[in-house]
Amino acid sequence: MRSPVTAPSQGELQRQNDFMLKIKAINDQKEKRPRFMINTFGCQMNAHDSEKLDGMLRQMGYEPCDDEKDADFIIYNTCCVRENAENKVYGNLGYLKHAKKDNPDMKIALCGCMMQQPTVIETIRKKYRHVDIVFGTFNIYKLPELIYTNIESASPVFDIWDKHADIVEDLPTVRKFKYKASVNIMFGCNNFCSYCIVPYVRGRERSRRPEDIIAEVKALAADGVKEVMLLGQNVNSYGRGLEEEISFAELLRRVNEIEGIERIRFMTSHPKDLSDELISAMADCKKVCNHIHLPFQAGSNEILKRMNRRYTKEHYLELVDKIRAAIPDIAITTDIIIGFPGETEKDVEETIDVVKKARFNGAFTFIYSKRTGTPAAEMPNQVPEAEAKKNFDKLLEAVNPIVYELNQKKVGNTYKVLVDGVSSDPLFVTGRTEDNTLVHFKGCSELIGDIINVKITDCKTFYLIGEQV
Ligand code: 5AD
Ligand code: SF4
Repeated sequence: MRSPVTAPSQGELQRQNDFMLKIKAINDQKEKRPRFMINTFGCQMNAHDSEKLDGMLRQMGYEPCDDEKDADFIIYNTCCVRENAENKVYGNLGYLKHAKKDNPDMKIALCGCMMQQPTVIETIRKKYRHVDIVFGTFNIYKLPELIYTNIESASPVFDIWDKHADIVEDLPTVRKFKYKASVNIMFGCNNFCSYCIVPYVRGRERSRRPEDIIAEVKALAADGVKEVMLLGQNVNSYGRGLEEEISFAELLRRVNEIEGIERIRFMTSHPKDLSDELISAMADCKKVCNHIHLPFQAGSNEILKRMNRRYTKEHYLELVDKIRAAIPDIAITTDIIIGFPGETEKDVEETIDVVKKARFNGAFTFIYSKRTGTPAAEMPNQVPEAEAKKNFDKLLEAVNPIVYELNQKKVGNTYKVLVDGVSSDPLFVTGRTEDNTLVHFKGCSELIGDIINVKITDCKTFYLIGEQV
């Protein structure tokens, strides 16, 4: 069923609270608390949505568990940016059909970007009838009502909206980390890069009001959070459509004033909207980390044009120079797509040329994945998989030695590392420098959440090795 879009308000939040209480009362009566597990695919936006699902489930009297085998309630928070993420979900759902036979009370819920595609919903209705609850990206706050409806009706509940309603503030959230947190500053995307499904499944761009963001960050700081990650598909266009005229640079300056917060990160920046004002704000604000993720996607101007990226290779490289001139020790990371329709050897060379000139500290590299409904899916000259794979390997051969070289330059220096967790070797912990480089050093779990001075003694391509000083 595609529901009409009713605008949720804070009254709506109260309504969901009532459903939460009803479900909690049901769960309180059970001999054993039902256990839940959330399996999250995709980006940080999804990871943050899962924290909200987690918060709501706990308030409803469910208990978390780490293994699907033990779970009575399983949620897949899905991604559809590339096909393999979708295939994984279908594969897992096949397996869950058998698991549900062993535990007939098991409930399976699906949500997230993949569910915003009508063909996916059709497939689930036809082939995956063991799924109990399906919802999309615009109505996660309705989870309590959907669970309640499913219990009451004893039949599957599908609730997919095709556009957003108002932004619902103050959902209960359980943060994965005590000392760091993500904060949505905006939702959706208006850019329509021709390969990308996100604008179709996350809707139009809308920004949260600065006072709501500031209040959330202040509350996080009061709760012991040291590092915040400001999240949006394109943070550089933050503020459009808000009553108050405010830019992302101004928002950064305001967040920088909040006592208790020690590190500020943000994701993702679109090169076409990156302003001088933002570069100055980054340089001025002490708490804003010296790292920027600035996807360039492709080096060929012809490909960039057909990707609808609205900048050129030259403009991108100029930006990189400008950023480095203002913030000399900044780390720049990027996203690159190989195998976009019509890509030639020469185009790949242009991409590699950007890699060599920009000298990235890290790159997420992807093989183009055809997404039905996007303009690129209809373009001629789709690149054969074998060719894309070959070019992908060539790209990595250009990216990795530079990353290694930049890491090597850090050996001998001391950096502040925010410790995240215990490493695979239990004698070591891992953490991030301000420029977001991963560091391993000897230490125990008590250090998690602390900012420690670490002298770098050695490095690999993807991490540094050091010792506490
Ligand atoms: N195929 C491959 N990679 C993609 N991305 C987005 N859409 C696609 C696609 N269809 C990549 C882009 C983006 C990152 C989040 O995912 O590089 O920056
Ligand atoms: Fe997709 Fe482009 Fe929007 Fe990023 S900016 S989410 S790549 S459409």
